[in-house]
Formats: sequence, structure tokens, C-alpha cells
Amino acid sequence: MTPVPREAALFRQRQYPLPRETGLVATPETVVHNTFRPANTMRKILVTSALPYANGPIHLGHLVEHIQTDIWVRFQKLRGHECIYVCADDAHGTPIMLKAQQEGTTPEALICRIGREHREDFSGFLIGFDNYYSTHSEENRHYANLIYQRLKEAGHIARRTITQAYDPEAGMFLPDRFIKGECPRCGAADQYGDSCEVCGATYAPTELKHAVSVISGAKPVERETEHYFFKLGNFSKMLKKWVHGGHLQPEIRNKLDEWFQAGLQDWDISRDAPYWGFEIPDAPGKYFYVWLDAPVGYMASFKNYCDRTGIRFDDYWGEGSTTELYHFIGKDIAYFHTLFWPAMLEGAGFRKPSAVWCHGFLTVNGQKMSKSRNTFIRARTYLDHLNPEYLRYYFAAKLGSGVDDIDLSLTDFMARVNSDLVGKLVNIASRCAGFIGKRFKGRLADRLPDEDLYASFVRSGEEIASLYEKREYGHAMREIMALADVANQYIDERKPWVAIKNPERLDQVQEVCTQGLNLFRVLVTYIKPVLPRLALEAEQFLDDGEWSWESIRNPLTGRKINPFKPLLTRVEQSAIDAILEDAGQNISKKASPVTVGGESIADTIPFDDFAKLDLRIARIVKAEQVAGADKLLRLTLDLGGESRNVFAGIKSAYTPEQLEGRLTVMVSNLAPRKMRFGVSEGMVLAAGQGGKELFLLSPDEGAEPGMRVK
Ligand code: 2FM
Ligand code: ZN
Repeated sequence: MTPVPREAALFRQRQYPLPRETGLVATPETVVHNTFRPANTMRKILVTSALPYANGPIHLGHLVEHIQTDIWVRFQKLRGHECIYVCADDAHGTPIMLKAQQEGTTPEALICRIGREHREDFSGFLIGFDNYYSTHSEENRHYANLIYQRLKEAGHIARRTITQAYDPEAGMFLPDRFIKGECPRCGAADQYGDSCEVCGATYAPTELKHAVSVISGAKPVERETEHYFFKLGNFSKMLKKWVHGGHLQPEIRNKLDEWFQAGLQDWDISRDAPYWGFEIPDAPGKYFYVWLDAPVGYMASFKNYCDRTGIRFDDYWGEGSTTELYHFIGKDIAYFHTLFWPAMLEGAGFRKPSAVWCHGFLTVNGQKMSKSRNTFIRARTYLDHLNPEYLRYYFAAKLGSGVDDIDLSLTDFMARVNSDLVGKLVNIASRCAGFIGKRFKGRLADRLPDEDLYASFVRSGEEIASLYEKREYGHAMREIMALADVANQYIDERKPWVAIKNPERLDQVQEVCTQGLNLFRVLVTYIKPVLPRLALEAEQFLDDGEWSWESIRNPLTGRKINPFKPLLTRVEQSAIDAILEDAGQNISKKASPVTVGGESIADTIPFDDFAKLDLRIARIVKAEQVAGADKLLRLTLDLGGESRNVFAGIKSAYTPEQLEGRLTVMVSNLAPRKMRFGVSEGMVLAAGQGGKELFLLSPDEGAEPGMRVK
């Protein structure tokens, strides 16, 4: 059952990126929603990024969006506006339910762990959410129910019996993505129930040949079930007007026109138990489809923020609200955000978004991110090796207001960061700071030698601000780097390193360096939305409080600054190689710490790693002293017919006689280790500090040697 028109499937696949044409057509118009206003009118803005699913790690594909949004929000705050940025984990749906089952845990425990990892990853990339929440929350249940009730009362919900694929072994209805078979068009094997990754065909799961359930391998059967539908067609007139009301990019608007022509179909908003989500209030055994409560999660996260801060929810979401509301999303989920969502809001008496802004997909080295090419890079893997601000800058340099895909070419990434950030921007400060620190006791000159140059840098701020406002970050970065070239040229021409040798020109050196540092301060202010950490360090270096777009109006002169510490180092090829190598193994060196009773005890390991351990019950058949060893006993272990020789460091706690005949637990698949006294073929498990305080683990009565410990 495909709830949206076929073309929409092209947008729906959240595999970063789509390998084929997305069907989006750009028009010459580039900026559709230029809300740019002078900085002196204080705006109230609420901004969201799409909610990541709580069943996998944050990767660089997610970060394109969250970095794009974060830059915009930081820019608004820097301009003095009230701008609130909320997000959450998208915590419902079949994949999360099944993943929890596979891991032998509950969905609650899974979403809690993943939620913590997501927060840590985003914070590692300096994403400054005002609130990060979960769709599995009481606030979300409240608003999902409220919206549904209001839609139902207004006659926008229908009930119909449909036929759907059912897995008789797993005892559940199957989403399209959980059915695989041969493509009805090209015959490719192993294709999903909604579309073929080989030829691009879209179809109904019933059309697949030799279909099987991904969950159990059983052949799906067709079964009837009653579902609830949102009557999207009731909003057709409103949507056509809204879509043409300046709320969308032209490429997306064009796509919507095609969807209008195809006709707006009812949207299936219910799923049958077993399902992980919110049960529909008046429909036992029926749950809201994850995409119903996901966007409501924007409201829920904001409500949670309001309850913490005292901000009034209705000021932002009430019908007729004059605050601004922007959703940043990937183009694959445009259908949900530009049709279903505004219609749901309208039908339930809430305001609609001021704009929905879509971005393209991320490719790495020109291709779709891929595990086999080692380019499926997790946020944490990147953070293990490189400064997050490099990637923030690189994405900013590549992002525009359109929906084109953006490529992370790793060679270009290294060259761009080293040339722009290290070679141009930071270079201005490092060339001037040494002289001021060492030769002028950290004191800036009392005047700028070229006030006009300073004023021209300040004037450029309006153009740069308007570029940020329009999400033309790439253009903004080019403007900033062009100014950095001017600043470097200014220093080059005056050669302070030559002048410093002439006692009569010392004042000139101090003034030139003061000019250089002031130009640097202006540029760092402009790039602060992209590089907030570098900006903080620069603020501390110049001992100048927190910079805003306004604070650069007057230059810094006649005052002391702090000693200069290098702000950024070059990206080395070895760091990129290390990321690719780790990505190949899909690992992160810094796993999240496991805490017990608030105490951090170890790094988490993936379940798969744990599953590799083969723990067995073993009988200690013989225990012997080892000549020359202080701590070791030699144990002969019976694993139910198989004998193992193990050296165990338990001599201080046990005599051989206490051990012989006893059952214990051993790691049976540890690679044999050559020790001074012989080869040890496994390990027995004991608790305690060591020395006399050691407690060999033993199973309850009834266990047999060789039994697997699970
Ligand atoms: O496509 C996705 O990754 C969804 N989890 C996005 C949801 S955005 C919003 F609607 F919640
Ligand atoms: Zn095909």
C-alpha cells in the first residue's frame, strides 16, 4: 500500500543520496522566501531540522542538514533576533520495533540509548539546539491525539478496509520495505516492495515476483484490515494557494504542481498491532503511522521547551500567529512537509509554516555514501580524527539555497580548509599577534592607520548578512574569503617583519598589526555562525566579550589583548586516511561510556561484538601450581568432551584443591595466547579486586560442562 503518488517515492528514499535523477527542475528564480529585514526589527523565529530516526547513528548525510540549520539559527541570534531551534529523535515505527527485538531489548531502552548517542554526536558538531527531545513523549502523544481528534470532528478522517501483505509467521502486516523479491520490470533479485534500486521502477508489493518477508522469510499472504485515512483532497484548494504563496523553493513548487495534477490521494495514517507508536485513542489495536506523529514532534519538542522557559506555545503555533516558523528538511521528505503537514495544521486549527526549505543529498567523492567504499562516515568516526569546524566550513562553502546535491570530495575538503581557514583567515591573526604580544606588551595601537579599509569591511556586513539570510552560505564564504585576501594583502604590502628591524618604524608596525587584528575580528564575526568555537577563542584572545553583528561597528584600539594561541592546524592526509579506514570497519574509537550507578565503567560495544563471545560452562578437572609463577595456576578444563589448558591468575585466592571438580565459566573462543609457561587456550571469569579478593564465577546446580552461556 503506497500512501503517496509514485513519483513521491523518488523523494521518500532516505538513502543518502539518490543515485539517479530526482526529477526536480530548477527554475531561474533562486530565492523564493527572502524574509531579509533590517537587523533593528526584532523577529521571533522558530526553526526545526528533520528528526533523525532513533535506530541508527548520525552520519555525515544528517549533518548537512543540521549544520545548514544551525548556521542559519546562529546567524539570526548573532543579529539579535529571538530564534529558537528545536529538534528530536523520531522514535516510532516498525524498524525501531524490529531492531529492539533483534538486540534483545525493549524499544524504550533502544530509543533512550540512541537518543543519548545522537545528542552527543550533534553536540560534537556544535549544533546548538535550544531543545532536543523525542517523539515518544507525553507532549507528542497529546498533540498527535489533539490533531487527530480535531481532524476527525471536522470530517477529515475516513475508515476503509484495505488488503495488505501479511507475514503469517511473524504475525504482522508488512510495510513495503519489509518485503523483498524480483523486480516486476527488470527481474533484478532482492528488491524492496516499493521500488527497484536497479531500474528505478516503482510498484506495489503485490507485483513483486517470488516475494518473501524480510522478517521471517515466509511468503507474504494478502489479508484484509481496517485503516484510517486523512482526506488530503479536502485541503486541495488551500494547498494550491499555499504552495504558490512564497513558502517553498521553486524546484519544490514545480514538483508539487506535478503532484496536484496527479491528484491528492487519501493518506493512510494507521498501522495494525504489533506496532511501536501511539495507539489511536478510539481504535484499540490501531496505531498512528510514524509519519503522523513525526512532524507533530516539532510541536512537542517546542512545548517541552516552553514548559522549561515560560515562552507561550500559542504565540508560535496558534492560528494567525505572526511569529516565523521554518522547517529545514531533505528533498526526499518534501511530500510529507509540504502537503500532509500544512493540511494537518490547517485542519486542526494551527498555523502553517512560514517556509519549508529543502536541501539536496550528500555524496562523498562524487558517489552515494557507501559502506563498501568506506564512505559511509558516521559523525563519531569523523569526530575521532578531525575538528568539527572543518566540516562545518566545508559544507557552508558548498551550500546554497537550492536543492542540488552537495559533494564532499575529501581532497578538495583538505585543500579548501587548509587554504581558506588556515592559510587565509587564521593567518591574518598569526601574522600580527606575535608582534603585538612580544614587542608591544600585548597592547594595540591607539588608532587604525586605514580607517576607510576598516569601514569598508564593516559595510560588507550587510551583503554577507543578506546571503546568510537567503541560505546562500557558499556565496557568503566566498565574500568573507575575498575580504581575507584583502586583509592579507594589506599586511603583505606593509611587511611588518621588515619594518620591525627599523627602530624608527616601530609605531607603524604596531598600527599595521592593530589594523590586521581588527580586520580579523570583523571577519571572525561574519564567520561566527559557521565557526562558533573559533570565534569564542578569538573573542578570548582579543579579550573582547561576545561579538555580535553590531559590535564590530567600532574598532578595538589602545587596549591590551591576551597572548595568541594557534587557532587551527592544517588538515593532514593521515587524518582523512584514518577516517576512511575506520568508516570501512564502521567503528568509532571513542565508544560511549557505560555507566553503572552513575559511575563510568567501560565503553559500549555493539551487540554484534558481544555476540562474538563464546562463553561456556567448564569443569576444572585439574588445578596445578606453575613453577616460577607468582599468580598463576594451570587449570585443565573439561568443556563437555573437549579439554583446554588455561593459565589463570587466581593463585592468591584459591588452592588447587579448592578448585578441582568445580564448575566455572570460561571464554572458549579467545585466541590462544603464548605465555612464558605454555599456551593458554581460554580464560576463566572471576569478580573482585584481585589478590585475596577474587570470586570465581560458578553456575547454579544442574549446569553441564560445554553448555553455552547466553
Ligand atoms: O526521514 C527521516 O529521517 C524522518 N525521521 C524525518 C522526520 S522529520 C519530521 F517530520 F519529523
Ligand atoms: Zn527493476
